[in-house]
Order: sequence, then C-alpha cells, then structure tokens
Amino acid sequence: LNASMTLDPDFRIAPVHRRTFGSFVEHMGRAVYTGIYEPGHPAADADGFRRDVLDLIRELGVTLVRYPGGNFVSGYRWEDGVGPREHRPVRRDLAWHSTETNQFGLDEFVRWCRRAEVEPMMAVNLGTRGIAEALDLLEYANHPEGTALADQRVANGATEPHDIRLWCLGNELDGPWQVGHKTAREYGRLAAETARAMRMAQRDLELVACGSSGVAMPTFGSWEAEVLEETYDLVDYISLHAYYQEHDGDLRSFLGSVTEMDHFIDSVVATADAVGARLRDSKRIQLSFDEWNVWYQSHFHAQEPREDWPVAPRVIEDRYNLADAVVVGNMLISLLRHSDRVTAACQAQLVNVIAPIMTEPGGPAWRQTIFHPFARTAAAASGDVLRVEPVCPVQETARYGPVPVVDATATHDQANGAAAVFAVNRSTDEPVTLDIDLRGIRPERVTECRTLSGADPYAVNTAEDPERVAPRDNPDIRLQDGHLSVVLPPVSWTVVTLA
Ligand code: AHR
Repeated sequence: LNASMTLDPDFRIAPVHRRTFGSFVEHMGRAVYTGIYEPGHPAADADGFRRDVLDLIRELGVTLVRYPGGNFVSGYRWEDGVGPREHRPVRRDLAWHSTETNQFGLDEFVRWCRRAEVEPMMAVNLGTRGIAEALDLLEYANHPEGTALADQRVANGATEPHDIRLWCLGNELDGPWQVGHKTAREYGRLAAETARAMRMAQRDLELVACGSSGVAMPTFGSWEAEVLEETYDLVDYISLHAYYQEHDGDLRSFLGSVTEMDHFIDSVVATADAVGARLRDSKRIQLSFDEWNVWYQSHFHAQEPREDWPVAPRVIEDRYNLADAVVVGNMLISLLRHSDRVTAACQAQLVNVIAPIMTEPGGPAWRQTIFHPFARTAAAASGDVLRVEPVCPVQETARYGPVPVVDATATHDQANGAAAVFAVNRSTDEPVTLDIDLRGIRPERVTECRTLSGADPYAVNTAEDPERVAPRDNPDIRLQDGHLSVVLPPVSWTVVTLA
C-alpha cells in the first residue's frame, strides 16, 4: 500500500506541551507498595524509593504524575499519610477492597517527585469530603510556614512548601462505582465552591474539574455542560478518561480505537466552547486527558468481587502485547495533534497497575511493550506540533467503519530545525510505503528511524524476556530531494527524527 503526506513548518497547531507526557500513581494494587516504594529492596534508597524504577521513569520521559487517585481518592483522608509512620492509621480502601497502611503519603510523594524529576498533580477528595478538607490539604502542602498545618508539614520534615500547582477537583464523580457519586449539578456546585475557596487561599493554582469517566457514560455531554456551567470561570481544565482493549479477537477495530478518542476530544472541546458561548465568556477551557491507556477492563469485570482486604494485592496487572503498544503510540499521536486544547495528559498508570513499568517484589523492574512508544515520543517531540493530513487507503472495521490505515503527527522545532514524525500502520496484513513531502523543512540527515513491529501482534515482554518487543532500527527509509520515504510494516508504530 502507498500513503503520502506533507510536512509544512508553517502549519503549526500549537507548542508541544511537556505536560502531555504525564502519568499516574494511585494507591491501588502494587503501584505504590512494591512499585515505586519498597523499603528493603536491594535497589531502594534511604527513603525506600526503588532506584531501578526511578531510572526507568526518567528513561520513559514522564513529566507530571497525578496522585493519589483515581477511585482511591474519593474515600481518602490525606492526614492519614503524614507524620511519624508509627502513628499513621491503617484503613480500609473501599475503592479497591484493600488495606491501606499509609506508610507512603503526601510528603513521601512530593519527595519522590523531586527525585523522579516530575511535577506533582494532586487530587482532592470530593467523594466523602469537601471544601474544608481541600483547604486543609492546600495549606499543609503549599503554605510556607506560620500556620497550624504549614508548621505541621515543617515539623514533619518538609521545610519548603511543596508548591503543587495543578489540582484535580475529585475523580470520576459521574460514575456510580465512585464513593460519593454525584449528579452533575451536585458535583458542579461542590467543585465550584471548592475551587473558589482554593483560589482565595492561592490565586495561581491550576484546577481541573471532572469530566466524564468515559465517552460511553449515559451522562456524557450533559455532564460536561452542567459541570462547566457551574465552574466555567473557576477552573482551567475539564478532564477526560479513556481506556481501550481488543474485544473478541477484533484486532482491526482495536487498532482503530483512536477514531473514538479523536471524536471524544472533539466533542468535549465543542461542549466546553458551547458553554463558553452561552456565558459570553471568551476564556477557553483546556482539556486534561488525565487517564488514558489500553486496559483489558473485561478481564477485571469478569472477576468475582473480593471478600478479603489484602495489602498491595496484584490488581489489573495487564501484560501488554505489540498491538497494545501500537494503540498506545496512536493515542499519543491523537494527544499531540490536539495540543491546541489538550495541554495536560496522564497515562494510567505508571508502575504495575496497567503500567509501562513492571516490578517484582524484591526482584527486577522491566519495560512492558507500551513503554517504548511513550519513551520515544516524549524524547523526540519538540517545538510545535504540525498539522498533517495523510492520504492513504482505509481498512474496514466492525466498530468504526472505514479507518485510514495510516495515522500520523509531526513536530518541528524552529530553534534548531529538528523535526520528528510519529506514524502507525493499522493495517493487519499490508506494509505501507509512506512518502513525506518535507515542504520548507531542509534536513541534512535522518537521525533516527525506529519501528515497533513483529510477526506476532500478541508478543509480550516478560521479566525473563524483557526486550522481546522493542523498537528496532528501520533500514527502509530514504531521504532524497526534499522527500522522505519510509516503509511501515503491518501493525506497527514508527518514529523518524530529522536534523
Ligand atoms: O486507573 C484505574 C481506575 O480507572 C481509576 O482509579 C479510576 O479513576 C478509573 O476508573
């Protein structure tokens, strides 16, 4: 098959936002305990943070980490996780039917963020709690000193304020599974009053209101509109969450998942702008896509509900294959091409729980297949995102109808002339030769052309064979007369960088 597209440095969508490469650590399963934190592990530092995991997180290129949930936050008392460890209470976590030891909390999280070189993104509990507890948390976290809660933080060893700028006003409160589930009006009012009070305490915060927990929610659309009617002038972002999986062996539809993701983003933009128009407000709400990934939710829902209350059990530790990695690479393409409105995003999650990084307690840490497109995209995308319009054949899918086989985006850095192209071939059986007209970009050479592909779309990485699925140099590339030609194998993700 043949495909073509044009790269024009004047067709700029928006800058590449570093917050696009965010991730998520929830108190859930083994994300925290035996994930990022495991005192006594041979690789643990003096704080119990696993250095092998920290190294992989830096390699992944994560910029922002959302914490502490997720569904967990809707029943969480942040105070349980600060102060001397021996006084911290052990609690039940209703969201994941687990026991929370609280041996890791806010102060540890912020210290860990500094070590991982990522920005913290904190969620407040608007499920079982409200304005007062959010204000207490903000005072503890960000007030310099001289007030009861700021002084408590100092006494707990954090002399400098945590300086957390980006805050989520609750999590997925549209979902009946959420502790403290609310109607859009109930949530919108609470989010508005919490946001107003938080801004009275600190003006320069960036606040995220909960959007729908998925495009398939029955309240999708009306939820966003009602929540934004209550919060429009008080928040900066509305959130989006989306998870995809292959259903019943339908690989073609799965590879086409971004069709729905694009539509989801465009619909939330349209809804937010419609509210802005009705309110005669020229402000533009940004989108925080703060949970996205491949997640085999059908496996999770097929399990019997838990009767016990384990500490850090193995929960949704999905093993990712090559096709999953191609879809993850495609989701990053979608996020980048929407950089005019999606200015923060968090892959859910970071370690062990539906994660690019896996660990064994007392054992190794290793990269899942989905690690690679994230790491290479975060490393190569710089400058501005360019608008590209691939011309290519389509592939019929049961879920989305005809889907173009090639999806792509590109970035160009005016500062140094570097460019990058990210492309997927979603055809299940045909290679595609992609011809790119480099109009206005005059690169001297191809600095990288790597492709994630293989004979078996279901190949996975394991602790024993962690590099089975990884990007390899793609020799089928030519740069000549202002044109780039690259062969994309079936079911593949490719990055090309030019200098
Ligand atoms: O990421 C796993 C869960 O998915 C989160 O806790 C919740 O917000 C979402 O439903």
